[in-house]
Amino acid sequence: MKELALHILDLAENSLRAGATELDITIERDEASDRLTLHIQDNGCGMPPEVLARVSDPFYTTKTTRRTGLGIPLTAHAAQQAGGSFSIESQQGRGTSITAVFQHSHIDRQPLGDMAGTVAAILLANPSIELRVVCRSGSGEYSLDTRQLRGQLDGIPLNHVAVLAVLRDTIGKNMTELCLS
Ligand SMILES: Nc1ncnc2c1ncn2[C@@H]1O[C@H](COP(=O)(O)OP(=O)(O)OP(=O)(O)O)[C@@H](O)[C@H]1O
Ligand SMILES: [Mg+2]
Repeated sequence: MKELALHILDLAENSLRAGATELDITIERDEASDRLTLHIQDNGCGMPPEVLARVSDPFYTTKTTRRTGLGIPLTAHAAQQAGGSFSIESQQGRGTSITAVFQHSHIDRQPLGDMAGTVAAILLANPSIELRVVCRSGSGEYSLDTRQLRGQLDGIPLNHVAVLAVLRDTIGKNMTELCLS
């Protein structure tokens, strides 16, 4: 994967497969420490310690369609290649929390990429998820919360094509304004 937004999409898919009904994604750039931090938290089924100990192994998966589970190892690798770190915490029955830190200016840091596309893809397939996305940098903060959006949409589903088009546009513009790339 060449974009951090695609890593985020993979991690969000893991959360949804784990039965999450709430998903929080935070993207934070801290200029002073030259760090870009991604945080993904869900309220899915979580993992027992023996699974948690193995998730960074590319040959560990609970999928039955193939034998590799690459999402987590690839994200961990991308963070480590960019002078950063990766950590994952999980509690069975409660949920999972993942933090990936990147040195923002590192030559090997992947670009953030199409975060608007990632959010649209999550909502297209899971219109009833409660998704919160918070993006923060020295230039300001942008947040999206489906709980609020639902109230404003008056029954129009979040995966309606017109809603997704507006969301894509808004997220894209905000990412540019926040210099998150
Ligand atoms: N948020 C999560 N909640 C519960 N279990 C998870 C979560 N994320 C990952 N897992 C467990 O860890 C395994 C490995 O995840 P990983 O993303 O590395 O691979 P995968 O999803 O199995 O396959 P791929 O990402 O290559 O399609 C998953 O199969 C799942 O059992
Ligand atoms: Mg995965």
